[in-house]
Amino acid sequence: APAMPPVVGAGPGWSAEHIAQLYIVPCMKYYGIFVKDGFLGTRLGDRVLKEVETLNRSGKFRGGQLVSQRSIPSKNIRGDQIAWVEGKEPGCESIGTLMAHIDEAIMHSSTNGQLGNYVINGRTKAMVACYPGSGTRYVRHVDNPNGDGRCITCIYYLNKDWDVKVHGGLLQLYPEGRNVVANIEPLFDRLLIFWSDRRNPHEVKPAYATRYAITVWYFDAKERAEAKEKYRLATGQKGIEVRVTQSDNT
Ligand code: OGA
Ligand code: OGA
Ligand code: MN
Repeated sequence: APAMPPVVGAGPGWSAEHIAQLYIVPCMKYYGIFVKDGFLGTRLGDRVLKEVETLNRSGKFRGGQLVSQRSIPSKNIRGDQIAWVEGKEPGCESIGTLMAHIDEAIMHSSTNGQLGNYVINGRTKAMVACYPGSGTRYVRHVDNPNGDGRCITCIYYLNKDWDVKVHGGLLQLYPEGRNVVANIEPLFDRLLIFWSDRRNPHEVKPAYATRYAITVWYFDAKERAEAKEKYRLATGQKGIEVRVTQSDNT
């Protein structure tokens, strides 16, 4: 088998169930990474992009936060601007449809213990992220290094005519224990899925043009419940501020 997963191309007539069984489950098992182009199709993808551009123009984005506030200013670690979207807000209906499609793909993939022992019972809201260009990046990190409950990261990219040689913004994944780098270009209508834990350290190389992506994280029921208990015991309060504060039942 190749060192990295093949990119599954666009194609009509595939149900979420087919894509899950034929591609997502085997790719996640073998590589821990899955890439699909043409996830929504141009029409719906265009509507999502329009909504994101409108959010940006209306000043809805804020500087990306970090789970642990270290002494280093956040913007030196991650230069993106973000907005959390539920998908039911006025002007965010297509983002809501995107989330429903990702939910469907993940739910079909995780039935009958096909994704190991994970029991997926919720997810975060959608994090809409904009790297404004000017060399902004996100340094190498692990999304969930310490068991906060997130098991799967899904990223949907929105960038038309993106040329990494000119615009940068490459996502580089360094799968644990493999001597390879997965280079993922943030291309329009591309969906990327990977394990959120220490198996997949990754970074966003400096971006020199506006770079949009929408990310959702899925929770493993047991790890999430344990994490909530741990935080409650540690702080004596219900919700400490972490990057993920929202869980929707899907
Ligand atoms: C970690 C971590 C980063 C890396 O495991 O906590 O931050 O690049 N890893 O391996
Ligand atoms: C993140 C992240 C990758 C990307 O927000 O945690 O790693 O390609 N984003 O936008
Ligand atoms: Mn990340």
